[in-house]
Amino acid sequence: MLSDSFSRKFFYLRLSLTDECNFKCNYCLPDGYHCETPHSNLNLSEIAQIAQCFAKLGTNKIRLTGGEPSLRKDLVDIMEVCANTPGIKQLAMTTNGFKLANHAKRWKDAGLSHINVSVDSLDPRQFELITGTKTFTKVMAGIDAALEQDFAAVKLNAVLIKQMAQQNFRKYLEWIKDRPVEVRFIELMQMGDQPDYFHKHHIAGSGFKQLLLNEGWEQQIRAHNAGPAQVFQHPDYAGKIGLIMPYSKDFCATCNRLRISSQGKLHLCLFGEEGVELRDLLQDPSQLAPLSQRIEDALQIKKVSHFLHDGNTGATPHLASIGG
Ligand code: GTP
Ligand code: 5AD
Ligand code: SF4
Repeated sequence: MLSDSFSRKFFYLRLSLTDECNFKCNYCLPDGYHCETPHSNLNLSEIAQIAQCFAKLGTNKIRLTGGEPSLRKDLVDIMEVCANTPGIKQLAMTTNGFKLANHAKRWKDAGLSHINVSVDSLDPRQFELITGTKTFTKVMAGIDAALEQDFAAVKLNAVLIKQMAQQNFRKYLEWIKDRPVEVRFIELMQMGDQPDYFHKHHIAGSGFKQLLLNEGWEQQIRAHNAGPAQVFQHPDYAGKIGLIMPYSKDFCATCNRLRISSQGKLHLCLFGEEGVELRDLLQDPSQLAPLSQRIEDALQIKKVSHFLHDGNTGATPHLASIGG
């Protein structure tokens, strides 16, 4: 199993398939996607080599990310390759939900087991303001379609945006009363591109945690390496609430994930470094041994934390560039 110099174990790989996105979320790509220098995304055989190598190093979960991963024409092939790699037990994807209604069944059949959908507001007008699209109805139909497909888990991600967080929070609580969905509220993180947006809209998740505890929600006990979300449940609700609070103390102590960008760089953290080039070692199955070595060596320089608290956004301009 891959581990770093702080004894954290890494069994979860987030693999970005493209940095392109068809939404314009105002905390991420407010002006839409622009590509300054044309580049080619990892192809199917490079992805197969990554999956095989990481699985041999103990990875059992792959999450496909982006940009928007469903913009890839060969997405179903990629899913099949990843899901059929010996050792991979969970194949997950994070999507904006745009294609979910029409593709949920195909993706499930291709081996996708877990799906997270970004829905920052249940109010169609607010949703349009945040995403720059009129897709609310379509995305919500996608979530219904995913629930019908019986995925192992369907989760929603909502970024906490100060001006609407309180109202949203109540709406989501109502929404999960009868739906077996975990809604995760994510603290807005400061990105290199957007310091002003952050200062205007960031709100801490800790107040919402207190609110849940006051209203009879119980925090689930979780394994030390279960990842960043704190999860809460309540006997009267079918769904759960998750809080992802990167600004909270010790957030990075439970880090269990590594990231690969759509251009084949290994990123040890969402923030902080330029990434380690892997692409030259993805060209032939005979390169598996040096590829493993490069990954193991890289882990030794993983830092203890992201240091976001100090206003350090590292080399990450926005999350679409690295897969969130
Ligand atoms: P599960 O596999 O369901 O636990 O989901 P996940 O939280 O790993 O994946 P998802 O893509 O849904 O993550 C949601 C968002 O949480 C990400 O896009 C980030 O904004 C944030 N997040 C996830 N992992 C990390 C992390 O390691 N560090 C930080 N700072 N934020 C993270
Ligand atoms: N802060 C917090 N979450 C963000 N996401 C994108 N940018 C940010 C940010 N600056 C979230 C999206 C999506 C996930 C992939 O990343 O809302 O749920
Ligand atoms: Fe891991 Fe970096 Fe996320 Fe912290 S911010 S949990 S170190 S990826």
